[in-house]
Amino acid sequence: MERLVIRGGNSLQGSLRVHGSKNAALPILAASVLVDEPCTISGVPNLLDIQAMINILKSLGMEVVQENDRVNILNAKVSTTNVPDELMRKMRSSIFLMGPLLAKYGSVTVSRPGGCAIGSRRIDLHLNGLKALGASIIEVNGFIHCEAKRLRGADIYLDFPSVGATENIMMAASMAEGVTEIINPAREPEIIDLANFINSIGGRIEGAGTDRITIYGKSKLNSNQGHIHYEVISDRIVAGTIMVGAAMTNGDVIIENANPVYLSSVISKLKQVGAEVIIKDHSIRVIGPKELDKIDRIVTAPYPGFPTDMQPQLMSMLTIAKGTSIIKESVFEERFKHVEQLLRMGAKINVDLNLAFIRGVERLQGSTVKATDLRAGASLVLAGLVAEGETEIESVYHIDRGYENIEGMFRKLGADITRK
Ligand code: EPZ
Repeated sequence: MERLVIRGGNSLQGSLRVHGSKNAALPILAASVLVDEPCTISGVPNLLDIQAMINILKSLGMEVVQENDRVNILNAKVSTTNVPDELMRKMRSSIFLMGPLLAKYGSVTVSRPGGCAIGSRRIDLHLNGLKALGASIIEVNGFIHCEAKRLRGADIYLDFPSVGATENIMMAASMAEGVTEIINPAREPEIIDLANFINSIGGRIEGAGTDRITIYGKSKLNSNQGHIHYEVISDRIVAGTIMVGAAMTNGDVIIENANPVYLSSVISKLKQVGAEVIIKDHSIRVIGPKELDKIDRIVTAPYPGFPTDMQPQLMSMLTIAKGTSIIKESVFEERFKHVEQLLRMGAKINVDLNLAFIRGVERLQGSTVKATDLRAGASLVLAGLVAEGETEIESVYHIDRGYENIEGMFRKLGADITRK
């Protein structure tokens, strides 16, 4: 089994471009089911989850070719609307196929995606949204079958601004009859990117990124451009991970292609621990302090609140800050699995339900630890960068789901990290 081996102590120095966003590319690839013309999506990162999504599109009968960070949809026509169970099990985001297949072909069958390491991951908001658009939904033995001759526009209020439910409803409503309003939708940058993609293939979505999205349904999406080209936004969570690494290692790093607006909550926390953050149009420079200050309280929340996908990385940094910090995880029920691993490295953390109390220590100790999920794995890489001695991280495949060649990225910035 592959491992990452890190020798701590080097401060991160230099500049880097981050790869395209996993959480933007996945729904955009699912939305490619809706196109009628050849389409090239660029800036698509080379990740396990992306491979899984491409395999699903191919299993539906689509002609898809990947060249480096470009995915070419040569023919989007599907021969089935059943998503294979074994592919669904590989990745929760396969749920994104429900909206586009139902909207374009009037039916879809998926297996119910299970929970994962970070929580129950319910899909009731997805199903309620599709029902509100007129779909009939039956569930038998864990398989969910949806049907609708033609979806009809509707007003849909989301009890929680779920990212996935907002994306599925947006894709479904883009080919419904009439207008759909999503009230209290997710406002993440990835939602805006998906709306921009759907508008580039001939859809009409307004208000993405605000607290009300309007979708004007069309019977057919066509951009009349002959061939569509779309570039995915860069990955703000990968950028955030590196920025925290720079702050933790007393480093000096420039992220060349990150949107500072999308990282404002992360930037404010880095300034709170004493890092200097210099913003230029599309680049962010982080200069880490000699000593990190604590942060009284951080609460994760939907965008523009502090992202839950940055919570483990921030905890890693606070394990070596002066004083006690408190983190409240309010988006996922079980997103503290990295705590046990950080304790193995000598961190001082107490957990009480969804609150973590982190008492900073002088220095972490290298140890053998295990990645329990994607962002937990990233937090252990950061801990290894500052730990005394050597850290070995197992179950690296979790990290490969969301970071392209993570050891190459940090080695470019001077870290002593290898994959064995
Ligand atoms: C997306 O997951 C991201 N994944 C997650 O990133 C991210 O953590 C999450 O949004 C929140 O920002 C992708 O974009 C592929 P949600 P998603 O629906 O869509 C509850 C990473 O590390 N909920 O906003 O699944 C749910 O249980 C991953 O890259 C319902 O109750 O997130 C959770 O507690 C991890 N019913 C909360 O809402 C529903 O129908 C947030 O879920 C849907 C969600």
